[in-house]
Amino acid sequence: MKRVGILTGREATFPESIIRSINEKGNGEVVAEMVKFGGIRIDEERKYDVIIDRISHEIPYYRATLKRMALEGTYVINNPFWWSADDKFFNFSLAAKIGIAIPKTVLLPQQNYIPDITSESLRNLEFPLDWEGIVDYVGFPAFLKPFDGGGWKNVSKIHSLEELWSVYNQTGKLCMTLQEGIEFDQFVRCYCVGQEKVLIMPYDPTKPYLSGMQYVNVEDYLSPELHARVERDVITICKALGYDLNTVEFAIKDGIPYAIDFMNPAPDAELASVGEQNHKWIVEAMTEFIFKKLEKGFETPEYRWSAMLNPAAKAPKTPVKAAKSSTKTTEAKKAETSKVKKATDKKPATKKAGAE
Ligand SMILES: Nc1ncnc2c1ncn2[C@@H]1O[C@H](COP(=O)(O)OP(=O)(O)OP(=O)(O)O)[C@@H](O)[C@H]1O
Ligand SMILES: [Mg+2]
Repeated sequence: MKRVGILTGREATFPESIIRSINEKGNGEVVAEMVKFGGIRIDEERKYDVIIDRISHEIPYYRATLKRMALEGTYVINNPFWWSADDKFFNFSLAAKIGIAIPKTVLLPQQNYIPDITSESLRNLEFPLDWEGIVDYVGFPAFLKPFDGGGWKNVSKIHSLEELWSVYNQTGKLCMTLQEGIEFDQFVRCYCVGQEKVLIMPYDPTKPYLSGMQYVNVEDYLSPELHARVERDVITICKALGYDLNTVEFAIKDGIPYAIDFMNPAPDAELASVGEQNHKWIVEAMTEFIFKKLEKGFETPEYRWSAMLNPAAKAPKTPVKAAKSSTKTTEAKKAETSKVKKATDKKPATKKAGAE
């Protein structure tokens, strides 16, 4: 018998639906249930063949537990190692390199730091930042948003440099990106399962978040060409990032789909929010993906330690190509601590700005 575990937060309908769907199809040979974790021993045995993770981004103990389970051969959707390593700014930069349209985006130094970080700790940071150069590149309107995160938290639309400084000054320790705002004609969110199945959902972000009014049902919303391009871009992105479950969002302007958010490894799938049709699609696609993989085997990534554990038996089915390493050296400008002055104008005052 194979076991599939669901690890979830407050959501209700997706866990219920996926458990029911897997159990119906599983006929007692594949069983799905909510997982239960307590103290995890270093010699913890494998309990699940697959775990669908919906919440470990919010609960570090779960993330650590899932890595431990992966060591035992449990296949976790999505890969907890990569999810831990990934961030949205890396995603934008990678996607741009592989031919996806991405709005101009700049990664910004944090506005504040943990107490022990002093001016001296930040000698490698340019100060003051070239704000004019940054906004000249990105333009207005722009979006100031975390380089990692979700749920529309700390996302702001910005129309001027003054507004940027004022909002940035509230961002504290969050690491933010400033991104060109796409004044879109159309907007879509796309589910992607198994890096191959795509559902394009017309979406209205002007409606309240999670209200159930955002997902709109419009037949033939995209032209056939645009539909094909969006589908292709979604698959390219998800293959590049290796996510088995993800949503990719596009703001479409003048026929160009700009990918603006595609690090959603636990995407919203609640009935009340995404609607019956989309909910049903994601439950069926995930069920099908899991059964196919249980039958044919999961292509688990190779880690340095996996070869040491049991080289012959645990060798991955598909060899993982070695990533090209880049040894580009950066001529780090030495920030002259002595010149760091207290920001007295409206420019953002970061911790390094001589707070001590
Ligand atoms: N570059 C942009 N151009 C136009 N609109 C944008 C842009 N970036 C963000 N937005 C708007 O802000 C919303 C939230 O931004 P984003 O998706 O990046 O954040 P999030 O917190 O990851 O959201 P979610 O949890 O819904 O995925 C988007 O759905 C979109 O409506
Ligand atoms: Mg989003």
